[in-house]
Amino acid sequence: MADNKNNPNQVSDTGHEWDGIKELNNPCPRWWLNSLWLSGLLVIVYFILYPSLPLVNESTKGLLGWTMIKEYKEDLAKVEAKRAPFEDKLAAMTAEEILADQEMLNYAIGSSKVLFGDNCAACHGTGGAPAEGAGYPNLSDDDWLFGGSVNDIMMSIAKGRAGMMPAHEKLLNTDEVDQLVKFVVDSSNGIQNEAGMALYTSKGCFACHGADAKGIKAMGSANLTDKIWRFSGDEDQIRHTILHGVNDASDPQTRVAVMPQWSEKLAIMLQVRADAIADDEDPNDIDWSDELEGDEGERLTETEIKKLAVYVHQFGGGQ
Ligand code: HEC
Ligand code: HEC
Repeated sequence: MADNKNNPNQVSDTGHEWDGIKELNNPCPRWWLNSLWLSGLLVIVYFILYPSLPLVNESTKGLLGWTMIKEYKEDLAKVEAKRAPFEDKLAAMTAEEILADQEMLNYAIGSSKVLFGDNCAACHGTGGAPAEGAGYPNLSDDDWLFGGSVNDIMMSIAKGRAGMMPAHEKLLNTDEVDQLVKFVVDSSNGIQNEAGMALYTSKGCFACHGADAKGIKAMGSANLTDKIWRFSGDEDQIRHTILHGVNDASDPQTRVAVMPQWSEKLAIMLQVRADAIADDEDPNDIDWSDELEGDEGERLTETEIKKLAVYVHQFGGGQ
C-alpha cells in the first residue's frame, strides 16, 4: 500500500529502499529539461556555423567562415580607417601647429602613449619621470639640457644627444674640488660664493655652463643654479661629476649619458630647414636630393617623432 503521507503525489519509486525510506522517481521539471534540449540544439547549430572540430592542420571551417584573426583584422582596418585622416593631417602639420590645435593635440597624445612606452620609457620612465638614481634625465620637470621648446625636443629625439664634460681629476687639486662642490651647492641654494665663482671662471667651467652658471642649451650643459639635478644634488655625486666628467672616454669612472638617435634623416632635415630659415631662404625651395644621400638611418618616422615631441612637451615641463 502506498504511503500517502510520505508520497502525496503517488510518484512511482525506483525500487530502492533503505530502512523504510524509498527512492522516488520524480521527473525533472519541464523548464529544466527544455533548457537541456535547447542547449544541445545550440551546440549543433554552432557546430555547423563556426569552426569546431580540430583536425590535423586546421579545424573545420563552419558555414559562416568566421575566424578570430579575421575579426581582429576587420576591427583593425576599422580603427585604421578612423585614424588615417588624422595621420595624414598630422604629417602635414608642424609640431607647433599641433600644439595649437586641441583636437590634433588630443589625438597626438593618445597615439603616443604606446610609442613612448615601447621606445622611451625603459630609460625615461612612464610619464617621463625615470627611477631615482637611474641616470636618465626627467622629461617632466622644467629643466632642459638641450631646450624645452617642442622643436628642441624634436631635435633631441631625432638626433640623439650626448653631453660632454671633461674629467677634472688631473686639472684640479683637492682644495679646488672642495671649493667648486661648495660653489655648486651654494649656487643651487641662491647663496653668493665669490671665491667659488672666481675659481669656476678661472678653471673654464663657464665656457660650457655659462658666465651665470645657468647652462648653455647648445652644449646640453646643466643649470648649476637650480635645485633640479641632472644627476644628484648629493655632495659626493657632484664631486664625482667634477672629478670624472660625463662621456669622457679617458676616464673609466666617467658618467655615461647617451640618448640614442632615432632618425638621422630627420635630424639632417631639421638642421637644413632651420639653417634655411636663419638665412632668410624659403625652406620649400630646399633640394633634398642635394642634402640627403638616401641611406640615412631611421628608427622612427618623422610623424612618430613629431607626435612624441608633442607628447613629451605636454608632460608639464615644455617651454
Ligand atoms: C637608452 C636610454 C634612452 C632611451 C631609450 C631614450 N632616451 Fe632620451 N635621453 C637619454 C639620456 C641619457 C639623455 C640625456 C643625454 C645627456 O645627458 O646629454 C636623454 C635625453 C633626452 C631628451 C633631452 C632632455 C633635455 O633635458 O634636454 C629628450 C627630449 C629625450 N631624451 C626624449 C626621449 C624620447 C622621446 C625617447 C623615445 C623615442 C627617448 N628619449 C629614448 C636616454 C634615453
Ligand atoms: C666641455 C664642457 C664642460 C665643462 C668645461 C664643464 N662642464 Fe660640467 N657639465 C657639462 C655638461 C654637458 C653637463 C651635463 C652632462 C649630461 O647630462 O650630459 C655637465 C654637468 C655638470 C654637473 C652635474 C649637474 C647636475 O645637475 O647633476 C656639475 C655639478 C658640473 N657639470 C660642474 C662643472 C664644474 C664645476 C666645472 C668646472 C670645473 C664643469 N662642470 C666644467 C659640460 C661641461
